[in-house]
Amino acid sequence: MKPENLYKIPKHVAIIMDGNGRWAKKRGLPRVFGHKEGAKAAEKAINFASDIGIEYLTLFAFSTENWARPEEEVNFIFKLLVEYINDKLSSLLERNINLRFLGRKDSLPENILLTIEHAEKETSKCTGLNLIVALNYSGRAEIVDAVKKIVNKGILDISEENFRNFLYFPDVPDPDLLIRTSGEIRISNFLLWQLAYTELYFTEVLWPDFDEREFLKALYAFQSRERRFGRIKL
Ligand code: IPE
Ligand code: IPE
Ligand code: MG
Repeated sequence: MKPENLYKIPKHVAIIMDGNGRWAKKRGLPRVFGHKEGAKAAEKAINFASDIGIEYLTLFAFSTENWARPEEEVNFIFKLLVEYINDKLSSLLERNINLRFLGRKDSLPENILLTIEHAEKETSKCTGLNLIVALNYSGRAEIVDAVKKIVNKGILDISEENFRNFLYFPDVPDPDLLIRTSGEIRISNFLLWQLAYTELYFTEVLWPDFDEREFLKALYAFQSRERRFGRIKL
């Protein structure tokens, strides 16, 4: 462990919460049970991140590609999300957690949109953990949406710095650490622009089994990494 990395807490952690379906299947249960347990694991991760002083936590909850799943599963996931928000809003406020949703909002069903906008508004003054839930999100869609805004404004002078201003949340720093559960070693169209120099951590653990201990393991792994950003160590 490098001394300068000891106790270093990443400012922004992003998580691809994967493996809910397999968790349920392993127990002979329908996939939706996995999503229910997955919501509990998300709550644990949120509280842990807020307790240890992570500033930004981005959770991948539903990708634009996930619409291709059976309708009952999609409906269940959205129902769970609405229930979760209604249930936990007061606890988010108590913990001073600021909640925002990342993704294409315009194509979300009306009741979902109302629920998420209400939660965003209610927590907008909170100054603790910045919780970002990626919903109907895809990295390529975000980049294309940024390009559309640039074209519409007729901007020709474009740089890496000003391009960032057209992403969904320009104020959010790039993730320092990306965690993906369930053993899949891929990005699945998540935060393509922002992950350029993020440390990647993959674990076999299925999302519903991801607890504080597993989160700590990921943080220890992060602390043992040497981030060079293209430079060399002198
Ligand atoms: C992640 O778990 C949750 C969502 C994508 C909504 P999965 O539902 O992808 O679970 P597996 O990968 O099929 O096990
Ligand atoms: C990525 O998981 C999306 C979310 C966790 C919301 P998927 O299960 O959809 O990813 P693939 O299909 O295995 O790449
Ligand atoms: Mg999956």
